[in-house]
Amino acid sequence: MVSEWQFEVPTAGSKHLPPDGRYMEALSSQGYGFEVAIADLVDNSIDAGAGNVVVHFLRDGDQLVSLVVVDDGKGMDENELDVAMTVGGRRGYDKKSLGMFGTGLKSASLSHANSVTVVSRTKRTRPAGRRWLMERAKHGFECDIIDPNYAQDFVDFYQGRPIAFQGTIVRWDDVKDFPNGGAGGQTDRYLQRTVNKLGLHLGLHLHRFLARDDFHITISVQDVRTGVEYANYGVESLDPFAYPVSGNSAYPSTFTAEIPALGQVHLDAHVWPPRSSLDEYKAFGAVVERSGFYFYRNDRLVQAGGWNNFRQPEQHLALARVAVDLPDDPEAKIFRLTVKKDGVQVSPEFVGSLEGAENEHGRTFAQYVVEAEHVYREARRHVGVARKAAVPPGRGIDPQVRQVIEEELPVLVHEEPLQFRWQKLANDKFFEIDQDGHVLLLNQHYRAALLGGRDGSLNDAPMVKSLIFLLMQDAFQRERMGSRLKDNIELWQSVLVAAARAELDRVAD
Ligand SMILES: Nc1ncnc2c1ncn2[C@@H]1O[C@H](COP(=O)(O)OP(=O)(O)OP(=O)(O)O)[C@@H](O)[C@H]1O
Ligand SMILES: [Mg+2]
Repeated sequence: MVSEWQFEVPTAGSKHLPPDGRYMEALSSQGYGFEVAIADLVDNSIDAGAGNVVVHFLRDGDQLVSLVVVDDGKGMDENELDVAMTVGGRRGYDKKSLGMFGTGLKSASLSHANSVTVVSRTKRTRPAGRRWLMERAKHGFECDIIDPNYAQDFVDFYQGRPIAFQGTIVRWDDVKDFPNGGAGGQTDRYLQRTVNKLGLHLGLHLHRFLARDDFHITISVQDVRTGVEYANYGVESLDPFAYPVSGNSAYPSTFTAEIPALGQVHLDAHVWPPRSSLDEYKAFGAVVERSGFYFYRNDRLVQAGGWNNFRQPEQHLALARVAVDLPDDPEAKIFRLTVKKDGVQVSPEFVGSLEGAENEHGRTFAQYVVEAEHVYREARRHVGVARKAAVPPGRGIDPQVRQVIEEELPVLVHEEPLQFRWQKLANDKFFEIDQDGHVLLLNQHYRAALLGGRDGSLNDAPMVKSLIFLLMQDAFQRERMGSRLKDNIELWQSVLVAAARAELDRVAD
């Protein structure tokens, strides 16, 4: 016989089972990207009322040693430092605050560094500090207390940049991402790439803060031994809706969705003008993935594009971007933020409410999406009329460049793709054309000089190859070259050889 179903599970007492220290490892393995982790620290600075935040990379010659985020916010006293270092320690948040889980500082930092030190001073209290070492945290959550003299020195080190009377320093050591040893300019390349990506990420996710006069983020690099500052640049606001002219004059327009559990949600629907080359459109990741919803929580961008099950991302939707300021939803009934604050999970009610969403003229949200697609398709059609078709780009051309060429130009699908190959040629030639094989040979002799010390690879020298690709279209599309084209090719040949020799001379200097 089946016994009766119990709707309540009966219990027989309880016991206290706090997590083991090893839980720290799980906490710091949530796949925080580097920029996402830094953004989490900057969130804390904003919550502390900071007007200036400095992201500081410290190097000792060719070796990167530490990463520091400093702010001039209100700082923390000893008790507040203890709360800050405790996982989930903070309780009770202001409605406007960016923090909500009480874990960001710990999980972001320990995802990227085996040691995180926090030193802070308030207007009323002397500098104090705490440190988590991953190894020690795992063995029973033992947190180190920083020597007060060092705390004072450390604050002095950042005096005026930007700490004045108060502020907080978060220092990462033993950073997992940093290259080991900097042989062959590895450190410089790492920094160039990382600083650039970080600037874009912060510029985008915090664009509403950066647009204000009283908030600044600076990224800088300094040598700890010589004190020399290498780079120091201000992060600029990167507003994903800052197009010069709308792609469709009926937009932007606000649509209102009704969600029974929450009330009204406003959707600010925009149509980008086609083929924009602005950073605000293209600078961060694939454009297709940047269409869709831009969710903001307290002015902080927490999702930069994506359709959240409303549509599949596809090229035709590329121009559609929708800003949504998340309504207050403390129990996360409809909108659930990821801990990393780089995405929002929405409940099916939200997607359902989009069907009925309308703007003041009675247009539906679905119509908006169709109209945004239409602008994209029309622009493509006009390109087909105005632009001459090209031979498809093939091996040797960087995939990113290939993608743009294919987006921008109608491609002659029946033609063999045009390949690039480096080969030994006579020194008075920069290139040779193999019309039958659809290959453009480049003179191997000049390769190292053009690469300026970087390693050669299949898709190297994208700049030179792209220019030659554009230049040589006629040569590959005609059966026989006319005298004008032949003369042009000779002209290009001599100019390019001269340029390549000039590159060689520079290397020799
Ligand atoms: N730069 C800072 N200046 C002042 N206080 C800070 C700073 N960084 C952290 N704190 C304090 O430490 C607490 C814990 O920070 P943490 O980032 O771990 O969690 P949170 O910001 O509360 O929530 P979330 O997990 O959503 O980020 C903060 O709530 C804040 O009180
Ligand atoms: Mg936080």
